[in-house]
Amino acid sequence: MSPDPLLTVNGLVKRFGGFRALDGVSFNLHPGEVLGLVGPNGSGKTTCINIICGLYAPDGGTITYDGRTIGGEKSHRLVKAGINRTFQSPRPFLSLTVRENVEVAAHYGDPAPGFDVDALLSHLELDRYAHRPAAELNSAQQKTLDLARAMATEPKLLLVDELAAGLNPAELNRMAERLRALADGGMALLVVEHLMGFIDKVTDRVVVMAAGKEFFGGTLASAMKDPEVIRVFLGGGHHG
Ligand SMILES: Nc1ncnc2c1ncn2[C@@H]1O[C@H](COP(=O)(O)OP(=O)(O)OP(=O)(O)O)[C@@H](O)[C@H]1O
Ligand SMILES: [Mg+2]
Repeated sequence: MSPDPLLTVNGLVKRFGGFRALDGVSFNLHPGEVLGLVGPNGSGKTTCINIICGLYAPDGGTITYDGRTIGGEKSHRLVKAGINRTFQSPRPFLSLTVRENVEVAAHYGDPAPGFDVDALLSHLELDRYAHRPAAELNSAQQKTLDLARAMATEPKLLLVDELAAGLNPAELNRMAERLRALADGGMALLVVEHLMGFIDKVTDRVVVMAAGKEFFGGTLASAMKDPEVIRVFLGGGHHG
């Protein structure tokens, strides 16, 4: 692992009206590393991703990416700088084909001249649907298309929001292997997920959040032995 983090989030704050969805979150992420971001519903995980990828501007704190401050920079610039994300609820262009969806995404980013849409589709086992409208995909396939869309911009930092939800066990395994392979290739991944089996398979370490703050950082195994983590999860109600 390289000594310098690719991403450093420090004291991040996000308010919606009077409500602090993020209340001072801090963590970092290295190239080739998979960091899990876990916590109960509403703890601020998606908001974290939305701010890092430039969908929202932060109300406080700093984000340093690749040696520069990026908080508040627009998504389209950050995509070109190597940050992309998947969505908790993917919304592909339903009337475009699977291949066209990925082509549009590639165009939005700044892919290398040798970028090969068909190789990406076949790698993600979407090749047989390439010429079908995205509307015909089931939800697992739409999640995979959403990953393809993000990968098409060749990110250095990939923010993954509940990609595993709704996948069957075989699909879960394949998705976990894909994410690990991306990290082995040097990509940094932030993986938000409720399924702890999936987190266990893909992450090097986790940050546990509650009410807009991180309160634990370490391996999943050590998190599961932490009384405060246990309390937050057992008291966290619905997960999914
Ligand atoms: N655009 C918004 N406007 C107002 N409130 C918002 C907005 N986005 C998020 N929130 C609120 O901020 C809090 C954190 O939401 P967020 O979606 O980040 O949680 P989460 O950890 O991703 O939850 P889940 O596990 O259910 O996906 C919630 O109370 C949510 O209702
Ligand atoms: Mg969420």
